[in-house]
Amino acid sequence: MKLFIDDANIEAIKRLTDLYPIDGVTTNPSILAKAKRDPRETLKEIRSIIGEDAVLFAQAVDLTYEGMLRDAHMIVDLLGKNTVVKIPSNPTGFKAMKALKKEGIATCGTVVYTPMQAYLAAKAGASYVAPYINRIDNMGYDGVRVTKQIQDILDANDFDCEVLAASFKNSQQVLELCEYGVGGATCAPDVIDGFVKNMAIDAAIQTFVDDFEKLTGKTSMSALDE
Ligand code: G3P
Repeated sequence: MKLFIDDANIEAIKRLTDLYPIDGVTTNPSILAKAKRDPRETLKEIRSIIGEDAVLFAQAVDLTYEGMLRDAHMIVDLLGKNTVVKIPSNPTGFKAMKALKKEGIATCGTVVYTPMQAYLAAKAGASYVAPYINRIDNMGYDGVRVTKQIQDILDANDFDCEVLAASFKNSQQVLELCEYGVGGATCAPDVIDGFVKNMAIDAAIQTFVDDFEKLTGKTSMSALDE
């Protein structure tokens, strides 16, 4: 399962890409709004941090077909290779996905709440489909179950399209999808940190250092040579 950061906070992206095996960054207009500056500057800075080999997702904002194509072209011109344009998974969006596929521009069918939205986006040529786990949960359905259904639909139809599961609120939701083998998950920084936030882990690691120090008076192997 690929792992993406769902955030536009520059310091958080620097810290997480430094520490964890991250495949890229996903954004949407609401995430960019939190940065409170020109979204083009934010996106360009994210690209410079993650490098050209990581995947960066940015969303077309215009809701017309022509506008979606214009936004997509601008996003790709701005951010270069390995950029994926998020397009809302509605009828106009499917039309845009079909056209962008013909142009060779990668898209992600976003705002996916139902399996059939994902089916149409994949069939329209989207490279990713993004179900919103927590938002589906909040509607009274089971976001993890819907996402597993979507993964099954992609597999059964042999679509060249990956799940990009989004909108997580806890690591248990991510764990279930990781276990199932969905294509990818995009998570806010606090959710990623939560994968390994556990006092028992920290205590066990510290005990190794303490025991070594009792034996040698040093807290590292290399210090034995000093
Ligand atoms: O990438 C989509 C995701 O950001 C939505 O998450 O937390 O706004 O439901 P959320």
